[in-house]
Amino acid sequence: MGLIRSFSTPRGLFAAVAIILFTYTIWSYTSSPSTFKSRSYIGKGLIVDLKSILTDRPPGQESSAWTEGDEGKFVTIGKPVTKIQFNDKGIIDVRTGRELEGANEGSTFNLAVLKLPRGSKWGFVGVARGPTRLRDFMKINGHSSREQVLVAMGLNMTSQGHLIAVTKGQTLDFPMIPREGCSSAGSWIATYGAEDPRLFWTDAGTPALTYARSAMDNDRCRSVGFVNDLRAIFPDLDDALYTGVEGVSPYDGYREPGQGSDRELYRTEKQGWMPFYPGALPDGETVVPHIHYTVKSALSLRPIELTPTRAIYKDVDLSSSDTKSCIGTAHSRSFKIHQASPLYRLTLCDRGCIVTEQNTVNIALSHTQSPTRQYGRFLATFNVSYPFNPISVGPRFHLNGCDDENDINYALSLAPIPESDLDLTVKQRKTPQIVQPDHFFLDDQMLITMGHNDKEMTSVLTTVREILGRQHMC
Ligand SMILES: *[C@@H]1O[C@H](CO)[C@@H](O)[C@H](O)[C@H]1NC(C)=O
Ligand SMILES: *[C@@H]1O[C@H](CO)[C@@H](O)[C@H](O)[C@H]1NC(C)=O
Repeated sequence: MGLIRSFSTPRGLFAAVAIILFTYTIWSYTSSPSTFKSRSYIGKGLIVDLKSILTDRPPGQESSAWTEGDEGKFVTIGKPVTKIQFNDKGIIDVRTGRELEGANEGSTFNLAVLKLPRGSKWGFVGVARGPTRLRDFMKINGHSSREQVLVAMGLNMTSQGHLIAVTKGQTLDFPMIPREGCSSAGSWIATYGAEDPRLFWTDAGTPALTYARSAMDNDRCRSVGFVNDLRAIFPDLDDALYTGVEGVSPYDGYREPGQGSDRELYRTEKQGWMPFYPGALPDGETVVPHIHYTVKSALSLRPIELTPTRAIYKDVDLSSSDTKSCIGTAHSRSFKIHQASPLYRLTLCDRGCIVTEQNTVNIALSHTQSPTRQYGRFLATFNVSYPFNPISVGPRFHLNGCDDENDINYALSLAPIPESDLDLTVKQRKTPQIVQPDHFFLDDQMLITMGHNDKEMTSVLTTVREILGRQHMC
């Protein structure tokens, strides 16, 4: 079972065998994964009333509009939005070790964060879009080449729930060039590089990044890149990260010859990739994620083959599921539905309870998009077991202080915030199993990070209960 799993296992003979297998083996599923070994136990997990938790109406949400076209207003949730202060001038170019040159367009925005385990030097690692750089090394149809840049940084949270950068920004180096496949993109044909970052913990305990990138094939335009361990391209993170806790693994810088840490996730489309890992708990070894690919009619993808440059995906058969259109039907009056965040595990009882496949769901934020590019958002839940079908879909909501009519508030990531993170006098609640730093429980608060008008990094702090209310069961 699991080739892509062996990616992080001891080397030597194992690795040699694994390389051969990488290219040939195809996954098979059982409804109860055989990988639930020593690290997790399915014991007397709390049985929760899923439906009553998901359909609960938090105070003040009774008469709000539910979807596009409904009477009334969408509910507003969370504490007032805050801007994340950040100095674009201080960004370090990792190639030179000096301040970034040629960053001449725009500022740092669209921040994704990943929660780090307690004991780390930073509360979070963040990756955002940085200022675009004019890199005039070629002209296509009269347009000069320009590079979209991603910037990484460490962040802490104040007791008020505000994020602050505690390091300088550092560029993430992705060698790319413009692609002929972008010829229908008008003046954007000469633009290349990385955007749309998402961060998540792999089941192997590595901090991973997906991003939109220039395709590897010249006749395609954009695709999705996957860095299985951000420490490979952001060395400061290795120094900041406390490992050996919460399923977080030490950095393993070893590479098979010809194998980098950066791969293209290969199917065809650029947008709407929401990474996740099967099961309610990390299996301790899987590196390459599964993907939820579209939400309007749910579709999951599983990795079937790993080459030195690509992870190749295949559809999970959802034909036996009668809930796959649930989200699209519930928000059918929205023009488009796009990915916002990756999927995160949420256990529907308080932190400290036992996690099982029955009381745990995957959650993700999605964006609705109007024809005029106004973004709305809602939360949906998915089963953690094959075929990963939607379980429920929630109402549209506004975030406190964000004007969705006039501004683009583009959400990228969610992070669980237990009370003990904000108030250091509150004792940290232990979980009886290994759960990763981005695993949510019902009594947690939730941090949402965003880009504001492609100009600023912002965040809102809310609670899981508030954002989870008024779901329609699929
Ligand atoms: C960030 O938070 C960590 C962990 O709480 C702490 O050790 C560190 O001093 C903080 N850094 C700054 C610059 O405040
Ligand atoms: C997910 O599906 C499995 C298998 O069908 C089922 O046993 C489990 O209860 C479901 N989980 C939830 C949270 O509904």
